[in-house]
Amino acid sequence: MMSLALDLAARGVGQVSPGPLVGTVIVDPNRQIVGEGFYLFDEVKHAETLALEQAGDKARGATAYVSLEPHAHQGRTNPCTDALIKAGIKRVVSPIEDPNPRVSGRGFAHLREAGIEVRTGLMDDEAGALNEAYIHFMRTARPFVHLKMAVSMDGKVATVNGDSRWITGEQARARVHDLRHQYDAIMVGGRTARADDPLLTDRSGKKRRRPLVRVVIEQYLRISPESQLAQTTDAGPVLIFASGDPDADELSALQSRGVEVIAQESALDFASVLEQLGKRSIQSLLVEGGPFLAALMLEAGLVNKVTFFIAPMIIGGQDAPSAIGGSGAEKIAGSLQLDRVEVKQHGRDVEISGYPANRG
Ligand SMILES: NC(=O)c1ccc[n+]([C@@H]2O[C@H](COP(=O)([O-])OP(=O)(O)OC[C@H]3O[C@@H](n4cnc5c(N)ncnc54)[C@H](OP(=O)(O)O)[C@@H]3O)[C@@H](O)[C@H]2O)c1
Repeated sequence: MMSLALDLAARGVGQVSPGPLVGTVIVDPNRQIVGEGFYLFDEVKHAETLALEQAGDKARGATAYVSLEPHAHQGRTNPCTDALIKAGIKRVVSPIEDPNPRVSGRGFAHLREAGIEVRTGLMDDEAGALNEAYIHFMRTARPFVHLKMAVSMDGKVATVNGDSRWITGEQARARVHDLRHQYDAIMVGGRTARADDPLLTDRSGKKRRRPLVRVVIEQYLRISPESQLAQTTDAGPVLIFASGDPDADELSALQSRGVEVIAQESALDFASVLEQLGKRSIQSLLVEGGPFLAALMLEAGLVNKVTFFIAPMIIGGQDAPSAIGGSGAEKIAGSLQLDRVEVKQHGRDVEISGYPANRG
């Protein structure tokens, strides 16, 4: 039942931010499912309310499986805990607390005070992973950072001449659009933006509530106003962080295209960049390289998740760039290890992802 509640919650991907993904299943004493619901921000009603509406009188004496702690405060909707109590729910099974300070622990406490049996912890790892970006954002006010790179078997991201299209095949690239769909913003370094002239849009074909915010980090403002990014600001915001005082002509040419430029002492002050994205309610950020940007973000300890797509090809070349620049580890023991590793295959390509563990 909890697995079903989590599957229902996942149907909201792309349509809940800045809220959490939540699914609810209501089961009567005969173990029959009498109500199901999942949250979509624009539909306003919460998963619990939708499931209770479906269950009607059958909710009396039933168990509610809710993938995240129900809220007990007055928000955009009335408290879900009130709705569960009023409907006569006997038991609530919910894996984890909602880290939102307005909810955290209070939802469970309210239910218990009303005599409802509350069981927590069931499938808590899965529930936490489903809302990893929301949970990270609620705790830090900064977006969850996911670094994604596409490499050849020998770890290269481009040829010696800078040609980088395409390393992975169609199926892996479709998977990347699904990844983009899960994120509020996407980021690349300025050299990547200039070399590849990418669009950086979500072309998953799936409905999303807020447009993907496209972010570029560069030292000097040198992105062309004729670039695909600058020409498609109607498809989604483009935000450039640049160091120092940008050239006035370059600035006004980009601004006239609708590009927003944030000049700060150093565009590489990622703590400041992430804070500013957080203030714009961007909860999740997919960083798509290049190697310079990826290295600095990893070295700063700001990357929360890493995914590499590995293509069965060998590019070769001493001077062809590899995925992560910087000075790198001195010893294998000092390299960055990943935890909770997952491997998937898309056509001929392999996707490997994990979460940075302690260095060495
Ligand atoms: N296969 C893949 O997954 C993948 C993904 C992305 C990119 N790529 C390839 O990677 C290559 C580009 O990557 P890259 O590592 O060269 O660059 P990058 O990471 O895309 O960009 C680095 C940015 O940092 C800026 N920078 C450097 N020093 C700075 C400083 N002290 N202060 C502020 N900003 C500073 C640079 O500014 P300036 O521009 O002013 O120097 C540049 O805009 C391209 O060939 C691209 O095709 C491959």
